[in-house]
Amino acid sequence: MPLLDIKNLTLEIDTSFGWVKALDKVNLSVDTKEVRALVGESGSGKSLIVKSIIGALPERWKVTADRMNWKGKDLLSMSDNQRRAITRSEMSVVFQNPLSALDPSATLEEQIAETIPDNLLDKGWFWQRRAQRHSIAVAQLHKVGIRDHELCLKSYPHQLPEDVCQKFTIAMALASNPRLLIADNPTMGMEITTKIQILRLLSKLNKTRELSILFVSHDLLAISAMADSMTVLYCGQSVESGKMTQIRKRPLHPYTKALLDSAPSFRRDLPPKAALHCLEGTIPTLQHLPIGCRLGPRCPRAQKECVKMPDVRRIHDHHYACHFPLHRDKA
Ligand SMILES: Nc1ncnc2c1ncn2[C@@H]1O[C@H](COP(=O)(O)OP(=O)(O)O)[C@@H](O)[C@H]1O
Ligand code: SF4
Ligand SMILES: [Mg+2]
Repeated sequence: MPLLDIKNLTLEIDTSFGWVKALDKVNLSVDTKEVRALVGESGSGKSLIVKSIIGALPERWKVTADRMNWKGKDLLSMSDNQRRAITRSEMSVVFQNPLSALDPSATLEEQIAETIPDNLLDKGWFWQRRAQRHSIAVAQLHKVGIRDHELCLKSYPHQLPEDVCQKFTIAMALASNPRLLIADNPTMGMEITTKIQILRLLSKLNKTRELSILFVSHDLLAISAMADSMTVLYCGQSVESGKMTQIRKRPLHPYTKALLDSAPSFRRDLPPKAALHCLEGTIPTLQHLPIGCRLGPRCPRAQKECVKMPDVRRIHDHHYACHFPLHRDKA
């Protein structure tokens, strides 16, 4: 049974031009010990999926799903308290912008202490528990590569550089010893050495602690080395998913192929400084969604039939939604 299992997640949001389906029948699952990449251009709906999973959407928005299970239990029918209990102890999230995730008016020690659940502490007097919380916090900071833990813990967020704050939010997310870490673009804007350090750390935690990771990014290169599987999102729809190696070798959806082709090091035949192969145009806004396949206006393989929404098809554990997939004769 997957840890997280989502089938046909649809999110309708109200905008100044009416209700629109910002997410449309999205499928996504994360198994125990798995690292799954969720990739897609900026604006494709990745963060909305994360917010749907943790229940952080405005109440008036309409979320429906055939299945949205955490360890077999339906998240959508849980009370706010039940969902909060899961996001406190079993499922942690790291967002792109560390400063927006941290409280500007509290020291980092106060903030990380709050995320360490009582069940990780031995029984004892409150000062003994405070000391235990401090040791756990220090150990977490060392794990993410923050050496000067004293300075970090006594600081307020604005007193530290952004990359230290991001490492700190990762430490904070791991302090409750979660089963699943959802990392929404955690290395965005970071310099390359810090980025590599964080990716290595997450990869190590996945192996040593059996931590499952949903790694959300628009940067395929950054995650291809550590992800076991990948879900590709375009314009609020999951268009392809499967094992990373399989998809890299033989993408079936034209959008996935374009994504892979725009990552230079995936193409050995690409001479230095060659122009990148990308799709023409840009991702449509929610008020201008095309009829049928949402990639239609940008797709080099589009034909008349594409005005109908393609169904999801499957070859073993490789899923795709396209009338005219690559490498296959039309069924
Ligand atoms: N609060 C909001 N109100 C209206 N539209 C939104 C809101 N949040 C996101 N969107 C729209 O939903 C789409 C997906 O956004 P998002 O999930 O942030 O994309 P990604 O994380 O893939 O860059 C975008 O078109 C964005 O403009
Ligand atoms: S269904 Fe048609 S428009 Fe959509 S990706 Fe496939 S070929 Fe392109
Ligand atoms: Mg986002």
